[in-house]
Amino acid sequence: MISFSSADTESALDSLAKRITSNSYIVFFTGAGVSAESGVPTFRSIDGLWEKFKPEELANFKSFIKNPALVQAWYRHRAEIVNNVKPNRGHTAMADMESKVATCVVITQNVDNLHQRAGSREVIELHGNILRNYCIDCGVQFEGDLLIENGETTLCKCGGLVRPDVVWFGEMLPANSFRIAEKHARKCDLFISVGTSGVVFPAAGLPTLAKSSGAFLVEVNTEATDLSSLMDVTFQGKSGEILPKLMSLLKS
Ligand code: OAD
Ligand code: ZN
Repeated sequence: MISFSSADTESALDSLAKRITSNSYIVFFTGAGVSAESGVPTFRSIDGLWEKFKPEELANFKSFIKNPALVQAWYRHRAEIVNNVKPNRGHTAMADMESKVATCVVITQNVDNLHQRAGSREVIELHGNILRNYCIDCGVQFEGDLLIENGETTLCKCGGLVRPDVVWFGEMLPANSFRIAEKHARKCDLFISVGTSGVVFPAAGLPTLAKSSGAFLVEVNTEATDLSSLMDVTFQGKSGEILPKLMSLLKS
């Protein structure tokens, strides 16, 4: 692994830019850090969401059945946060990459919809999307905000409980999305991990898969992570600063 201080970040970015050609097949593998600059709290930071709320109380099916109104309210609060923020320059840089290379895919662990709002068209959501909800009994989908009045539980017309379309603790990832993510990890030539701590599996296994399939691995993160030792190059910094710099170095 090569780590760069800010002094030589420019030249490291330059050599990364030289690797990227119109034939490149790029995967961005993203986590909560890419949305931090938009104002969405990350999971494991000091002021992260789960410092204040115990995940085991909120993000699992048993708790939802026990106290659906509480879990719905928490997700509604989180949906409000993401609806009130904007994609940042990191999201936009990743969206802009699509027009520069043959294949560019975003595999995200985020549920905040910000990649799509930034204009990325190829987004694989490994952990679902907080803006979608569905009935656990009949499966009908609800788009948009869940309306919860006076702490009441939101029910479907059929009487079933309505839950967010996100992956909870103990639940499987959407099989099709993960299968497609694995395919891209195997086929890409550049795998860029951005703003993820890389500790939640099976998603965190994708960088290893990409590496063993021959991809060049790059990390963009404000800190060293569990994935750093796997990387060919690590950029320590904010995704909203590093990625636009990389884009500016690509030939138009
Ligand atoms: P984490 O909160 O674990 O990690 C966020 C990472 O972003 C950390 O490594 C930070 O150093 C980094 N970071 C913070 N600000 C940044 C910035 N401006 N630019 C670049 N990096 C920055 O979030 P995830 O890795 O996404 O799963 O967490 C993975 C999964 O854990 C989530 O999808 C969620 C949670 O359990 C589910 O809900 C299923
Ligand atoms: Zn229903």
